[in-house]
Amino acid sequence: MSSYSIESLEQYFKVYRQSIRKPKKFWGKIAENNFTWYQKWDKVLEFDMQKAEFTWFKNAKLNITKNCIDRHLANKGDEIAIIFEPNDPKEESKSFTYNQLYAEVSKMTNVLREQGVEKGDRVCIYLPMIPELAFSILACARMGAIHSVVFGGFSANALSTRINDSDCKFLITADGGYRASKTIKLKEIADKALEKSPCVEKVFVVKRTNEEINMVEGRDLFLQPLLDEADATSIAEIMDAEDPLFILYTSGSTGTPKGMLHTTAGYMVYTAYTFKNFFNYSNGDVYWCTADIGWITGHSYILYGPLLNGATTVIFEGTPSYPTHSRFWEVIEKHQVNQFYTAPTAIRALAKEKIEFVQDYRLDSLKVIGSVGEPINEEAWHWYNDHVGNKRCPLVDTWWQTETGGIVIAAIPFVTPTKPTYASLPFPGIQPVLMDELRNEIEVNQKMGNLCIEFPWPAIARTIWGDHQRYIDTYFTTFPGKYFSGDGALRDEVGYYRITGRVDDVIIVSGHNMGTAPIEDVINEHQYVAESAIVGYPHDIKGNALYGFVVIKDAGLWRDKNNLVKEINQLIADQIGPIAKLDKIQFVNGLPKTRSGKIMRRILRKIAEGELTDFGDISTLLNPEIVEEIKENRIK
Ligand code: WTA
Repeated sequence: MSSYSIESLEQYFKVYRQSIRKPKKFWGKIAENNFTWYQKWDKVLEFDMQKAEFTWFKNAKLNITKNCIDRHLANKGDEIAIIFEPNDPKEESKSFTYNQLYAEVSKMTNVLREQGVEKGDRVCIYLPMIPELAFSILACARMGAIHSVVFGGFSANALSTRINDSDCKFLITADGGYRASKTIKLKEIADKALEKSPCVEKVFVVKRTNEEINMVEGRDLFLQPLLDEADATSIAEIMDAEDPLFILYTSGSTGTPKGMLHTTAGYMVYTAYTFKNFFNYSNGDVYWCTADIGWITGHSYILYGPLLNGATTVIFEGTPSYPTHSRFWEVIEKHQVNQFYTAPTAIRALAKEKIEFVQDYRLDSLKVIGSVGEPINEEAWHWYNDHVGNKRCPLVDTWWQTETGGIVIAAIPFVTPTKPTYASLPFPGIQPVLMDELRNEIEVNQKMGNLCIEFPWPAIARTIWGDHQRYIDTYFTTFPGKYFSGDGALRDEVGYYRITGRVDDVIIVSGHNMGTAPIEDVINEHQYVAESAIVGYPHDIKGNALYGFVVIKDAGLWRDKNNLVKEINQLIADQIGPIAKLDKIQFVNGLPKTRSGKIMRRILRKIAEGELTDFGDISTLLNPEIVEEIKENRIK
């Protein structure tokens, strides 16, 4: 048990060294001492970084839900596993003990089995942040179906693309969902998606808003009556260590979203171990992560990580500013939250409001505060640290990705001294390196490089669903033999890492990854658009916002610019989701291009940022005159 909980800097360095020198021995011990297995592994690790092949805990047999739920029943059956805090504070919150969680997940598992879901089937889950979302995910894991959760803010088209990509036979959704003062008609969106997704045979519907909805006979079933009939005990499927656990889509710089595949044992060991250390969780604590379960943060650190540790985890349906800007702080006080994990974009938005919104609440239950999703700027860091953490709670800035499965670089609270804007040191087992453009390792300090990881860790994604070659090309080819994150970083003299942001064409907007190419593809579908280029520019609250340069064809045919802006954004909302809408759209007569026809995004980025003088080397530019024109008409 000893190295499971890291309690001093000295111990951290010792554990870290062990994890690098003898990774197999190290992870073998962590896995052996802290989890329930049906059968142990033959080998801790086999891998090939060039081929992107990773086998962790080879031939071990387990079920992750046995570790999330059953294992805790003897000692913690009556302790609370999940607290559900609804969107509307007037609605009562609900809690589920581990015994109740076992019953709910068992019922759901039995229903899915009775309805024909089989091990290995893909089940798409498109639900709001309600307890049934957790039960559905865990039921899939319990019976060996692969869950693919799609964030409830995605449009019908985005949902359909994801369903089709992984060939889901089943969909779990709800009549609707609440978000601040709005109601989202999820079933209506799902129905629209299914027009283009014939692979879905059955749809299970949770009632949340109780609005009238369309039910397709022979396809759609309300879940509750089935659950009411189901047995509240269940047997967990015996899964292989490398059996797929879930698919989660993340947008890339090109093409369709990437279905990142995570498997069972490695993901379990890593999320549990990181949760324990990065949040300093002790028995009885109440832990709250404000992310949506539709993203990796919710998978790993609302559900799996906390439940694997027998923790109490909060599922929050609402938003930071509804009904007031105090909502977060009110919930912390109400549930006596000890660990709070949120995103810089939320912090920046709340920091703009009157300080009384925070000060009116007692936040002294807090022990640790965390940040995730994008670099946290200095100002937000201090506000969060001073007014929420009261300069008393360590602020852990956690760097990781959908692909890494769990946190890979962050300070361990009460162990690693924090430094604003620095994610700090790598977790045991993680070997970061910075690479320059010539593929040489950067050894010196304070020099920006491409952040790579040299050695596999248990929760590394195993593939992109259905396209292993794309997995190799995206992550293992730029710097052969290494995992390339797509982020830039630098390292200070003590070895702390500071993440500087994406180095590819992914832009992080309000903590959400936005590939520019997929949005451009959508805009280019508009009948009057010839081509377009999207770049990011700094934004006070969102971190980055999207600026689109759009070339119009048939100039005579369109007259109303404002209308066209609206139409383009509507198209984006319909095809991807409102989160991908552009903040600024500038109509241009052409885009700056190199002689080989590549758009010079660097120049567009500068213009969007308002830096209008130094464009660097533009000798390869085919049409320099266009730059002047774009500059002049720039949207401020
Ligand atoms: C960014 C979210 C700086 C980064 C867990 C990464 C961060 C992308 C941080 C992954 C952080 C996440 N500091 N940047 N603490 N955390 N990022 O897949 O660019 O939704 O590559 O996973 O978010 O986003 P994803």
